Amino acid sequence: MLFGKKKSVAGLDIGSSSVKMVELDGKVGSLSLVSLGFENLPDNTIIDGQIMELNTVSDVIRNVCTNHNVSADNVVTGVSGHSVIIKNIVLPPMSQEELEESIDWHAEEHIPYDLADVSLDYQITGHTGDSTQVLIAACKRERIDNIKQAVQLAGKQPVVIDVDSFALQNCYEVNYQPDSSQVVTLLNIGASTMNVNIVKGNTSLFSRDITVGGSQFTDVLQRSLGLSYQQAEAVKRGVNTAVEGLEEKSIEPLMNNVTEIVAMEIQKTFDFYRATTEDNQTVVQKILISGGGSKLQGLAQDLSARLELPVEVLDPFRSIKVDTRRFDPDYLSEIMPEMAVAVGLAMRGVN
Ligand SMILES: Nc1ncnc2c1ncn2[C@@H]1O[C@H](COP(=O)(O)OP(=O)(O)OP(=O)(O)O)[C@@H](O)[C@H]1O
Ligand SMILES: [Mg+2]
Repeated sequence: MLFGKKKSVAGLDIGSSSVKMVELDGKVGSLSLVSLGFENLPDNTIIDGQIMELNTVSDVIRNVCTNHNVSADNVVTGVSGHSVIIKNIVLPPMSQEELEESIDWHAEEHIPYDLADVSLDYQITGHTGDSTQVLIAACKRERIDNIKQAVQLAGKQPVVIDVDSFALQNCYEVNYQPDSSQVVTLLNIGASTMNVNIVKGNTSLFSRDITVGGSQFTDVLQRSLGLSYQQAEAVKRGVNTAVEGLEEKSIEPLMNNVTEIVAMEIQKTFDFYRATTEDNQTVVQKILISGGGSKLQGLAQDLSARLELPVEVLDPFRSIKVDTRRFDPDYLSEIMPEMAVAVGLAMRGVN
């Protein structure tokens, strides 16, 4: 470009507990971090994926940008949860053109909503002699409109609406460059949603969003121990002084109950995957976790023991150049789990 700087595109992750924004520069292989922002949202601003308070969310997006020098006007944002349907479907052999003509007809039986009410996207992920594998993603249009509105109110242009689970995968692929035999499960534990994506090399084998997350632990502590939300959140994060006289032994079984639900849902996802595939050679080698919910003390070890798989923390900055004079390494490593989806969204902007 002759005049001025190329317009950059930032990744904007609007989670139910906080807004994260990441701006990258360069191209895959030589990416560098330009800016990064993270601000909490008030409680109940986003319920069940729906933005209830558009003005509050747009104010927070604006604050993230001004407080952290995010200059991009265009953003890539994502959707997740109930209203997103992701399916790997197997169709007879066909060309891209034939698929284009028939996709609505094929997708219809896999999507529990009227096709007129959803935004549908698809991608051929493989061919064999007698089949075409297609990944379809659909999201309720009203959900997309809701997010676009919040972004536009903040003065930004949503140029791409991605799916959180795919952004997570993008973040993994660019940072880890997996070879085609590597099978991992990406597990992003947010406040209200858990994205599970079983990935082989650069292909998603199975992806599922589950409405369980970090806030479930807080809820249980709050209800069972009669605490305020702030107290429960602090106790969960291991601030033992948050509530006077609270005994450690009253906390542990409550947390264990929720961990068991989390592990069960992941196991169920593995079972669902196995039920939809004829490939019984593919075995998940490890789980890479991210999301604020994954920071719960002992959770990674507990999941590893329950699922009998190694669990590692996903590093979203593994292959990204970070200027430590501008970004405090301690702060970065503290918020690293929460930034995975935002980094993946930002990568879509530079790809
Ligand atoms: N140190 C910690 N220990 C335990 N839990 C933590 C810690 N830090 C953050 N969390 C939890 O992480 C969750 C927020 O994670 P994250 O920012 O990934 O979610 P989100 O993107 O806002 O939500 P969602 O994607 O589900 O809409 C909250 O439930 C919060 O309590
Ligand atoms: Mg999230």
